[in-house]
Amino acid sequence: MRPTRGIVILDFGGQYTQLIARRVREQSVFSTILPCHVPIEQVVALEPAGIILSGGPASVYDANAPFCDPNILSLGKPVLGICYGLQWIAHQLGGKVESATRREYGPAELIIENGSRLLAGIPSPVRIWNSHGDEVVNLPPGFRTVGVTATAVAAIENAERNIYAVQFHPEVRHTERGTDLLRTFLFSICRAQPNWDPRTFVERTVEEIRARVGGRDRALCALSGGVDSTVAAELVHRAIGDRLVCVFVNNGLLRQDEFGSTLSLLQERLALNVVGVDAPERFLGRLRGVTDPEEKRRRIGAEFIRVFEEEARKLGVFRFLVQGTLYPDVIESVSVRGPSATIKTHHNVGGLPTQMQFELIEPSRELFKDEVRRMGDELGLPEEILQRHPFPGPGLAVRVLGEVTSERLAMLRAADDIVFQEVKRAGFYLHLWQAFAVLLPVQSVGVMGDQRSYGYTVAVRAVHSEDGMTADWARLPADLLERLATRIVNEVPGISRVVYDISSKPPSTIEWE
Ligand code: XMP
Repeated sequence: MRPTRGIVILDFGGQYTQLIARRVREQSVFSTILPCHVPIEQVVALEPAGIILSGGPASVYDANAPFCDPNILSLGKPVLGICYGLQWIAHQLGGKVESATRREYGPAELIIENGSRLLAGIPSPVRIWNSHGDEVVNLPPGFRTVGVTATAVAAIENAERNIYAVQFHPEVRHTERGTDLLRTFLFSICRAQPNWDPRTFVERTVEEIRARVGGRDRALCALSGGVDSTVAAELVHRAIGDRLVCVFVNNGLLRQDEFGSTLSLLQERLALNVVGVDAPERFLGRLRGVTDPEEKRRRIGAEFIRVFEEEARKLGVFRFLVQGTLYPDVIESVSVRGPSATIKTHHNVGGLPTQMQFELIEPSRELFKDEVRRMGDELGLPEEILQRHPFPGPGLAVRVLGEVTSERLAMLRAADDIVFQEVKRAGFYLHLWQAFAVLLPVQSVGVMGDQRSYGYTVAVRAVHSEDGMTADWARLPADLLERLATRIVNEVPGISRVVYDISSKPPSTIEWE
């Protein structure tokens, strides 16, 4: 579902492009990211109220500097250039950009001048966030400087042509009043429609699915009990009822009691048509002797597809497959940078079966993770699902470091459950992106009841994150950490030591494997 009169963001490969899209949507205005070099007709077809040109790491003088069709600037739609976007506009329209003598990175003070339309109502000076090497030294004809820092031109505009550009990053929280600047662009300049809200999204998506599937065909969905697949399933369920059949597989790598409790939640509370497949041995058999994380992922992914296909065959004929694909996955595959280097293969549960011919329904492919939660709330999904922390498709297999055995899984499950209970009881669960235990293949000496012990080590990981791309370790209170550690060592046989992971991402990742 794509509302018109939103904003098109043309991506020059900037690290903050997705953030720009989210900031726009936070104002209830729909935004779409397209690679900078898309044909202009594709931009026009979306009937945008305005266009934002993102930042990017290149210099306009680089041999293969990214560019977009210059006619973008003559469509009569308001344009906002950010960072590289500003430099590209200046360069394109006859201004001059040069490599700065001093790179501006981090906080700076913006002085607003000359009665800017874009910066109207923002006090001067104001703190902003910069990240650039090049700077504009001569403005293109018709442009005025409306903001400067101590070292560079920071904001320019040509109100007649409705083109505005800033050298700093209004989308980053460190830029004070960045949201006000975006709101001025969206509402006073573009007259964008604030029509991006959960209720309209749900209504229109359900209608679209109903029209597409028609009155007879059936759809199949792999459910994991996570918020992404559940929202996708619920949207389709509203459209076609029990002609949606969901399959929920127990791969033996789920958390404590998760299979039974989630299955009954989906069947009883949500009234979804769900088939539970209890197949732990099949997955554990495939994992015997495997220690390499990527090999674990591959085997679990391949086995999942086999189980899913077998089950689907038993259930009859399906024309459609429902997947909980989110917008970041979609952008990743179309971005100007191309898919970023694979650090871990993210086999989501429900990877597309290879042998079967399905038409895909991906109702959430326009949504960011936080938006999926909001849609879930609109759909009335229970808190247990809406607030559930993200959980990797390969499950606990990537949290048991080294070989995955049922004994090690049992140890990890018990420790992980204590982390869950205590974090929840202390009121931190909702404030964290993830909190979990990892079982390390490291044994160390301890003393328990006058006896020497030689048990395994559990690492506790708790992080804050907005989207999983970056993360900061959570400063949990010492008494909570102490309670966790004491309970784990006392209650889980075989574990004699607990450590707390204080690394952030990057350079570390959230999961250990
Ligand atoms: P990393 O460890 O890459 O994790 O910092 C980022 C986010 O992705 C989740 N994750 C996965 N999800 N399949 C998934 O579906 C996977 O193989 C996988 N590996 C990591 C992780 O839990 C975190 O939220």
